Amino acid sequence: MTDLRIVENPAGEAAERLAAAADAGEQIALTGGSTARRMYERLATMAVDWSGCTLWFGDERCVPPEDERSNFGMVRDALLDRLPGSAPDMRRIVGERGPDAGAADYERRLQDDFGQAMPRFDLLLLGLGSDGHCASIFPGDRALEERERLAVGVPRSGLPPWVSRVTLTLPVLNAARQVIFLVTGADKAEAAARAFAGRPDRRTPASLVAPVAGTLTVLIDRAAAERLPT
Ligand code: 6PG
Repeated sequence: MTDLRIVENPAGEAAERLAAAADAGEQIALTGGSTARRMYERLATMAVDWSGCTLWFGDERCVPPEDERSNFGMVRDALLDRLPGSAPDMRRIVGERGPDAGAADYERRLQDDFGQAMPRFDLLLLGLGSDGHCASIFPGDRALEERERLAVGVPRSGLPPWVSRVTLTLPVLNAARQVIFLVTGADKAEAAARAFAGRPDRRTPASLVAPVAGTLTVLIDRAAAERLPT
């Protein structure tokens, strides 16, 4: 069951939930994207105990952290560098190693830290692309078919920026205890209708996110929700 919430300020609501997960010392997977950036900026102003949680990423662009396209770099600028107290434990995807080595490296890290075949994130945040992608799982890409690996390289992006990526795979997304999509803006309305009100369809990767034993919440603004049935 999808818990669809049309809210004024998805970034603000998501910040509250992420803060609660951080305070509880949970394993959290972050997302890139402009809506998420607003959430990180909001979080940086909140009183949060970051000392017990671990921050991972759902995907990364294959660029160094100093590159403006880096998801880790974005989180560092919007959140980490602004924190007054102790920094969270970070597990970034080393995108500059390239898609294949970066994915293999991240997969090893996941296995070592979680110590089980399938990692279960307590909270996994995702954005939605206007083409229906989430993390870096794009329509038509072979990452969609992956059932064994935890992370894979994505040689070609489906949307700008046109750089290769590393992404968690669908089995990992669907093993999470709590998945939250963060969706804003009219340009997402069509993709949102396909992702959250249509049948699961490989042409819309986000429609394939269905936690096996977890919850799925969509925090969406009115503009992005325009084509969803009321
Ligand atoms: C990335 C993201 C990606 C993003 C969506 C939505 O690295 O590009 O992880 O999945 O979340 O494209 O991004 P916007 O919020 O910027 O539209």
